Amino acid sequence: MLFGKLLTAFATTLLATVSAVPVEVETSQIGKRDFGPVTIFTPPSTYVNERTLYARSLLLKDGSILTTWENYDWSGMPWFPIFKSTDHGFTWTNFSQAHDTQNGWGLRYQPFLHLLENDIGGFKAGTILLAGNSIPADLSKTQLELYASTDNGASWGFVSHIANGGKAVPNNGETPVWEPFLLEYKGQVICYYSDQRDPAHGQKLVYQSTSDLKNWGKVVDVEANAVYSARPGMPIISKMSNNQYFLTYENGGAAEVDFAVYYKIVSNPLSFGKIQGQALRTVDGHVPYGSPYNIWTPVGPLQQGTVVVNANSDSDCFINHNYGTGNWTRLTTQAYADYSRSLAVGLNPKDIVIVSGGALGMGPTNHVYMAARDVNGCSTC
Ligand SMILES: *[C@@H]1O[C@H](CO)[C@@H](O)[C@H](O)[C@H]1NC(C)=O
Ligand SMILES: *[C@@H]1O[C@H](CO)[C@@H](O)[C@H](O)[C@H]1NC(C)=O
Repeated sequence: MLFGKLLTAFATTLLATVSAVPVEVETSQIGKRDFGPVTIFTPPSTYVNERTLYARSLLLKDGSILTTWENYDWSGMPWFPIFKSTDHGFTWTNFSQAHDTQNGWGLRYQPFLHLLENDIGGFKAGTILLAGNSIPADLSKTQLELYASTDNGASWGFVSHIANGGKAVPNNGETPVWEPFLLEYKGQVICYYSDQRDPAHGQKLVYQSTSDLKNWGKVVDVEANAVYSARPGMPIISKMSNNQYFLTYENGGAAEVDFAVYYKIVSNPLSFGKIQGQALRTVDGHVPYGSPYNIWTPVGPLQQGTVVVNANSDSDCFINHNYGTGNWTRLTTQAYADYSRSLAVGLNPKDIVIVSGGALGMGPTNHVYMAARDVNGCSTC
């Protein structure tokens, strides 16, 4: 309802002026926002299984937003679609595709986008990195790959193989690798991922790092539970302005609730493995669970910004104003509770960009959409 009003108001200005004078329309579009879901892509009925899932977004320096997702056109080799919005998420176009050029398997699962902040290994700051899982049609292997775009997402090229594992089946005893997440730290890019190859752990979280984007270092534990059947998964990390790093993961087998959202806070993102995680529990006693995501934005009432977390269990986000310690409270959204719904900080850092590909087991209704939320909440926008 409210969104309809906003959209109508902006649509005329936008369509006429957005490419010519983006700065002029910015302020009104990214002030207090609470809207959604805006459809980014509706898959045709020929798509299989979940049709779309696991969407990710990336804000570019010019204010445009890219998004990608697991795209279940499995008629040939799957690819990672790249859709683009130049009006802060109100409208989207099919912009480019990243294709597997190495394995003949396709880019099938778990894409992640990262904008390089520093020059590294011959790649300039501003290069867009795309990590994801290349998997053949019979799901017999998993291969975490790194691709890159040096033209703002218009085209993509292979960079390196990060890690390889066995069958793409999430059962203990199988040996896949899953869910890459990229972070820059002191001249390195660190890739965090879920790893089922260690016979001592059903699944654990690990990282490997690189200083040239080509050669990846040894596998280091991030979270490995002494209980074999535990399945910590889906690592996401944010850097906060106190120079600490906030990690969330789902903790399969947790005492609070299965796949409870757990977090760890460290000063050195190479040393998450040295501390225990703890469950995220809100002041109203709720422990969210399943496929968490987190961001940190500098906007917050205590000059310490806001940590924002979401999970599969809830439409709401969960926010914290003390660098992840102390109280967690709810922030409602107009997005659905979904599988691995992603968050990003918008061009106005108050703006939470929520992008999702839908829920598990909901194939025919899944589609890719965006919702936006003001991190301060808003009752009148
Ligand atoms: C986007 O456009 C490309 C090229 O025309 C097409 O192959 C693809 O099916 C479209 N949709 C998606 C989701 O990538
Ligand atoms: C935390 O929440 C409790 C209960 O709502 C409240 O009494 C307390 O003031 C809060 N503490 C901080 C630091 O916000």
